[in-house]
Amino acid sequence: MRILTGIQPSGRLHLGNYLGAMRQCVELQAKADDCYYFIADYHALTTVSDPQALRDAIRGVALDFLSAGLDPEKVVFFRQSDVPEVQELTWLLSIVTPMARLELAHSYKDKLAHGKEATHALFTYPVLMAADILLYQSDLVPVGKDQKQHLEITRDLAAKFNQKFGEVFKMPEGYIPETVATVPGTDGQKMSKSYGNTIPLAGTPKEIKKAIMGIVTDSAPVEAKKDPETNNVYKIYKLLATPEQAAEMAERFRAGGYGYGDAKKELLRVYEEVLAPFRERRARYEAHPDEVRDILASGAAKARAEARRTLEAARRAVGLD
Ligand code: TYM
Repeated sequence: MRILTGIQPSGRLHLGNYLGAMRQCVELQAKADDCYYFIADYHALTTVSDPQALRDAIRGVALDFLSAGLDPEKVVFFRQSDVPEVQELTWLLSIVTPMARLELAHSYKDKLAHGKEATHALFTYPVLMAADILLYQSDLVPVGKDQKQHLEITRDLAAKFNQKFGEVFKMPEGYIPETVATVPGTDGQKMSKSYGNTIPLAGTPKEIKKAIMGIVTDSAPVEAKKDPETNNVYKIYKLLATPEQAAEMAERFRAGGYGYGDAKKELLRVYEEVLAPFRERRARYEAHPDEVRDILASGAAKARAEARRTLEAARRAVGLD
């Protein structure tokens, strides 16, 4: 079983990325024989136009992803742009991609609604993502819910290509556990860099404290009985805490006499506890940049060999052999 996912280096990673995708990646590496995880730097070019900012973000995602607990012995960890074969496959897939399918993509429409220029790269983003997934003959793709439509497009393109040119691609499935499919941000909307509502993974203690203490709540007084399921602090807490800890906080809210300030302090405590191993590993990788470079270089070599096999098959299928 091959597991594959990518993360864009379009800024600093946050708790939504960790709970929505990275934690599943680490869990799955113990169960699956084959994991391909990569830094989606070609994709990030659709939103990052400052070269130094891109370099910094690539380095940040490399450190964060490894520090989440990837086992470099088990996982093929690489940079998307180290395997340029993905671009050729994007072209081969684009010949079976209906324009209308891309015009209806939520993330494209959303970016335009937020004032982004309608570039060709933004428009074909889902085709490149399909190529990422199909190039490595992936079985399972752990992602958050915001990527669900991209996975549907991927499956459509695989089916269309296979039907037209013969069986080349495996049909991938998404892996989107319901509880963490959409991690809320500090304002209750989906946690996202573009909404400015994130809790950063590798932030300073001050930044993390500021983000958690800034979680938006209603103005119910401490004494009031509160419904835990409607407050943002509890919603984030229950994703990080143990079921027993979550039940205890829920009970306190329901009983009254428990304020949001105390709940935020408890969330901060659990956040620090759960992410302590992440921070330790990150400090170690930061001190050993050569190790990170070597991991990415060996990942790229393995990924490229695999990519060439699929690309050859796709080229043969369309008559480019
Ligand atoms: P990206 O870089 O925006 O996000 C990386 C992963 O984090 C998940 N995520 C969330 N999950 C739950 N709640 C949230 N608030 C939240 N915010 C982010 C995303 O769903 C994603 O799984 N297009 C992809 C990158 C990509 C990719 C791929 C993924 C490129 N090629 C191939 C899988 C397979 C993206 O923009 O993710």
